[in-house]
Amino acid sequence: MTNTLPLSRKALRQTLRARRNALSHRQQREAASLLSTQIQSILTLPNSTVAGYLANDGEIDLAPTISVCQQAGSVTLPVLHPFTGKHLLFQAFTPLTEMTFNRFGISEPALNSTAIRLLHQHQLLLMPLVGFDAQGNRLGMGGGFYDRTLANINRLAQRPTLVGVAHDCQQVDELPVEPWDVPLDLIITPTQIIKTN
Ligand SMILES: Nc1ncnc2c1ncn2[C@@H]1O[C@H](COP(=O)(O)OP(=O)(O)O)[C@@H](O)[C@H]1O
Ligand SMILES: [Mg+2]
Repeated sequence: MTNTLPLSRKALRQTLRARRNALSHRQQREAASLLSTQIQSILTLPNSTVAGYLANDGEIDLAPTISVCQQAGSVTLPVLHPFTGKHLLFQAFTPLTEMTFNRFGISEPALNSTAIRLLHQHQLLLMPLVGFDAQGNRLGMGGGFYDRTLANINRLAQRPTLVGVAHDCQQVDELPVEPWDVPLDLIITPTQIIKTN
């Protein structure tokens, strides 16, 4: 479903969050399973490191994707930076990882410096989003965490593919974009793989 209304970012966030929160448990389960199949189809390297997230607020659930990626390689999860509190670190995540709740009440790995993985060590960064368009623009929850963390991504000699993952109902025709928004390379939904450049 697309949305052509010229809504502000704040209004768009409200509308799109309501859409994904209206999905039934069954729709969420089916979406998660289809997404996992789609993501497996683009995982080219064996032993790749994939950054994921634990779903919150109706976000598409990565649990099936995470188990496949843990078996085929390794998975990291974002952790709020302990000093700036405004950037993300990525930390290895296995079934044995000790977890804690961050200041947003979201579960994340307990900080362990030996488990931190740098951006360039990832093949894919799977990012949750509130809204996307087919041009690769991403609207997040409004904290700007991924934008800050990825601000210098193009200076890396080797960089992960930036993948926005979402329900199809998060798509709009054209998002309002700000200069600091970092564009996505790919968007993957249960029914689409959109390459943006
Ligand atoms: N690279 C950056 N450096 C400093 N502040 C940033 C950067 N990227 C985003 N921000 C801040 O984060 C805030 C939220 O960003 P926004 O793009 O609206 O959120 P989201 O990406 O979560 O939808 C912005 O108001 C901006 O001040
Ligand atoms: Mg942004």
